[in-house]
Amino acid sequence: MSFVYLNGDFLPVGEAQVSVNDRGFLFGDGVYEVTPAYGGRLFRWEQHLARLTAGLAAIGIDFDATVLKRVKEKLLARNGLDGASGAYVYVQVTRGAAPRTHWFPDPPVAPTVYAFANRFARPSMEEWARGISAVTVPDQRWARADIKAIALLANVLAAQTAVGAGAGNAVFVRDGIALEGSHNNLFAVFGGVLATAPKSNYILHGITRDFLIELAAGLDIPVEERAIPLPELYRADEVFFSGTTTEVRPVVEIDGRKVGDGVVGPVARRLYEGFLGVVEGERPAG
Ligand SMILES: Cc1ncc(COP(=O)(O)O)c(C=O)c1O
Repeated sequence: MSFVYLNGDFLPVGEAQVSVNDRGFLFGDGVYEVTPAYGGRLFRWEQHLARLTAGLAAIGIDFDATVLKRVKEKLLARNGLDGASGAYVYVQVTRGAAPRTHWFPDPPVAPTVYAFANRFARPSMEEWARGISAVTVPDQRWARADIKAIALLANVLAAQTAVGAGAGNAVFVRDGIALEGSHNNLFAVFGGVLATAPKSNYILHGITRDFLIELAAGLDIPVEERAIPLPELYRADEVFFSGTTTEVRPVVEIDGRKVGDGVVGPVARRLYEGFLGVVEGERPAG
């Protein structure tokens, strides 16, 4: 049975209840965060906390997210995920439950804080090395994709478009520029140089993205944070997605066209090996 956290209590998932007046339910009025844990230890928690804190401030929810570290560690332990090699804790904070008005409740109400923990499945090395296909979709999201808002309808529709096309993921394209995946950041390789969209209001500032840029520096792989026009993406030698549960996922076909030679390339492979070297090192000895 899985235990979740809701507003101060740890409960069996079937007993957790949220009001129908919750503004997360009515408006998608809230933010969320997904933090990976390897060997029961939260990975890059400070960065995830900083992004959540910035998101809460951006939408005007008064909540001190630092308290969530203990909550997350407890959830991992209560759900037997302390030893899991790939686990994550999801947390969402909404503006709380109040009679429906578009404006904020006045006086403010207590935010609703919900969290759960789960495992995520890493593909086998054989499956990883086969890569996935992707399709491009117009980016119909609002202009604050940097806020990790729980309102994810455009992302849901993009992911479902990929499913409908038999593809592994969708790439958002805005004004001819390939920005990121439906739930991950996007990297492309041109002549050994790694490129990814610069941080702006049009992408989520992925923690895994930052981690891969650091790893690339250590591996002497040059990185350019710059716009990638779609025609250029089609000509990339390699393409891959990054994200908390995505980790590093190579793409071998986009919109029915082969990426490079249509096989997973050396840069994705070196970065994934570097990535696994670090996160697997997070496991407690023995
Ligand atoms: C739209 C989008 N971009 C990028 C990411 C990757 O971010 P992170 O590496 O912090 O998981 C996510 C993760 O959920 C996402 O939803």
